[in-house]
Order: sequence, then C-alpha cells, then structure tokens
Amino acid sequence: MARRWKKFAGLSLLVILTLVVVGITFTIGWRPIIGAKKRALTDRKFAATPPRLARGKYLVDGVMGCFSCHTDADWSKPGAPPIAGREGSGHVRSDQDMPWLIAPNITPDQETGAGNWSDDTLARAIREGIGHDGRALFSVMPYQNYRQMSDEDLASVIVYLRSVPAVRNQLPTTSMPFPLNFFIQSVPEPVTAAVPAPDQSTPVARGNYLVRMAACANCHTPQEKGQPLPGMDFAGGFLLKEPKGDVVSNNITPAASGIGYYNDTSFVQALRTGKVGARPLHASMPWYFFGQMSDDDLKSIFAFLQTLKPVRHQLDNTEPPTYCRLCKQKHGFGHTN
Ligand code: HEC
Ligand code: HEC
Repeated sequence: MARRWKKFAGLSLLVILTLVVVGITFTIGWRPIIGAKKRALTDRKFAATPPRLARGKYLVDGVMGCFSCHTDADWSKPGAPPIAGREGSGHVRSDQDMPWLIAPNITPDQETGAGNWSDDTLARAIREGIGHDGRALFSVMPYQNYRQMSDEDLASVIVYLRSVPAVRNQLPTTSMPFPLNFFIQSVPEPVTAAVPAPDQSTPVARGNYLVRMAACANCHTPQEKGQPLPGMDFAGGFLLKEPKGDVVSNNITPAASGIGYYNDTSFVQALRTGKVGARPLHASMPWYFFGQMSDDDLKSIFAFLQTLKPVRHQLDNTEPPTYCRLCKQKHGFGHTN
C-alpha cells in the first residue's frame, strides 16, 4: 500500500514538474530565470575618421536624437532641447512616472560617464541591450530598433559619442521594479552577424531605415501593457507626460484623421519648425532633433509613411480628453472613435 502511494506521489511530482517546465517554456520562457542572452565582449576599436565623425553627429543629434533621452531638457525653449553644455550627461525619467529608470551619462567622463567603457561595450549596449555592467537594459532604450543599425553607422555613432565634451554628472543606476526586472531578461539578443549598409535604392527603402532608427513607432503606435495594439501601427494614442500636462502622439498614417492632408513640403516644414501651419507641436514630439535631418531624408521618411495602412483614429491634444476605445487612452476626440 505504502509503496503504491509512494509511486503515485512520485508520478504526480513528475507530472507537476513537466507542467511547470512546459508552462515556462511556452509562456515567459527561461530567460527571466537564467538571465539575458549576451555575448562575450571583444576588443574591437572603431577608428575615428572625419566621415564617421560627421555621420555620427548627424545620427546622434538628428535621426536618433540620443540626447533627447540622455540629457535633462530645457522646457523653457521651443522643442525642449537638451540643456546647453549638458548634452549626453544623463537623465532621470521621473518626468515619465519612471523615477527608477535612469538614462545614463554617455559623455566621455571617466568617472561618471562612458569614458572607461570600451568601444564594444558601447556597441553591445546600443544594439544588443546589455549595459556596461552586464545588466539587461530596459527597452525604453530603443536597442530593439538599433539591432538593425548598420555596422558602419554603429561605428560612426560611437566615434561621435567619444568626441562630445565630457560632463561630470553622477547618477544612480536603474533598478527595475518586480516583475519587470524578470521579464526584461528575455528582450536582449546578441548581434552575431555583420549588419550591412541599409537598402538605399528608393526613398521608401531609405525612409524605412530612418523610421526604424528614429523609433517613430515606439511613440506613435499605442500600447497596452507594453505591447503594441494590433492594427494600430503608427495610428497614435501613446501617452507622454510634459510639465504642463499629458499629451498623446498623433496618427501619422495616411488616413484623413492622420497626416493624409500633408505633402512632402509641409512634412519637412512641420519637422523642421515644430509647427503644422499655425499649430505648434508639443516638445514630446522630438522635432527639435528630427528637424536637423536633410530635406532628402525627411522626404524619404514621408514617402515611407505614405505606404502605411491608413487607420481611422481621431486625436487632438487641444480638445478635452475623453476615453477612446481604439487606443484605450483618454485624449481629445477620444469618444468619436
Ligand atoms: C527613448 C529614450 C532613449 C533614446 C532615444 C536613447 N536612449 Fe540610450 N538609454 C535610455 C535609457 C532609459 C537607458 C537606461 C536603461 C536601463 O538602465 O535599463 C539607456 C541606456 C543606454 C546605454 C547603456 C549604458 C550602460 O549602462 O552601459 C547606452 C550606451 C546608450 N543608452 C546609448 C544611447 C545612444 C548612443 C543612443 C542614440 C543612438 C541612445 N542611447 C538613445 C534611453 C534612450
Ligand atoms: C518621444 C515620442 C515621439 C517620437 C519618437 C516621435 N513622435 Fe511624432 N509625435 C509625438 C507626439 C506626442 C505628437 C503630438 C504632438 C502634438 O499634438 O502637439 C507627435 C506628432 C507628430 C506629427 C504631427 C501630426 C499631426 O497631426 O499634425 C508628426 C508628423 C509626427 N509626430 C511624425 C513623427 C515621425 C516621422 C517620427 C519619427 C521620425 C516621430 N514622429 C517620432 C511623439 C513622438
């Protein structure tokens, strides 16, 4: 009798264990438990050449707007530019209700910045989401987009970062709350193959790469529990906090409720000046940075946006916020959707 019970208990334990293993494999995966995927660092170095310095500056200051997140902003100026002289010195994201998230000091300061991080340490952080301390980085840092950054663009970004003035600014380190600290472990992915130069053959192809590098969708596709809402690509409704109140991103699909009424000239104008006709754009839209792109690149971005599926989604940050069933946020004209 006792032996039969023992066998039964053993069998039940086996069944439970199998269920747990299968359950973890098909739900959160093993990464939250065993830690993020990462590769060993190499000693590669990126030679500082004038073309790389120029390209890096264009990418960091314009296309990717790295300092929009990595610097305290000056909200008294149009477009809330980085505080002058502090470029790259880091920022605590308490303004976005994430006081635990710190965009670190990436200036070449030896003690408080990236001065002592090797080129490959920076490369791995930017494209693969592993910090200098081996930590899985929170994905607000758009490393999932940057995975597709070409090897040459990556080298250029790092060469330029090494050239900005070192700023001394000691900041605490991110400490993600539970359970984010577990879930984030499944996000980083090593880049193990060469990433060739992007397809430059058509404006749409060029725009596609720029839109990915500028992370437009990260703000323009609304999310629920951190996941993009299906069918709402680039349709707006992502909430951002500004000192004077909340704003939502706009619909930038070619629908009538999106930017269907734009042409490439008015698009360049909007991103360059931060104004759509007489309407000023809130600084949460990083037009201060994107406006530094060439006309050609901005027009390519517009050409790409024109190929998106039009989504009907009415939004207006000048109207009182009401609940919207499409993006699950409250925003101007929300009840009309
Ligand atoms: C949307 C905001 C945002 C943008 C844009 C952004 N970053 Fe970050 N970055 C962050 C945040 C937040 C962290 C910290 C994440 C964490 O601690 O988990 C970070 C982390 C990093 C790190 C890791 C530092 C370490 O501890 O090793 C590097 C390097 C970095 N960013 C460089 C860049 C560069 C270069 C660009 C532009 C190509 C850029 N970032 C663009 C928000 C951003
Ligand atoms: C950090 C978040 C963020 C990023 C990244 C971002 N946007 Fe925006 N965008 C916004 C917000 C917020 C608004 C709404 C501003 C307002 O209503 O004043 C906006 C508005 C716009 C508008 C005005 C639309 C209208 O209705 O007139 C255009 C065009 C636009 N964004 C294009 C882009 C493009 C193209 C990119 C990538 C190159 C991009 N945005 C990246 C936040 C962002």
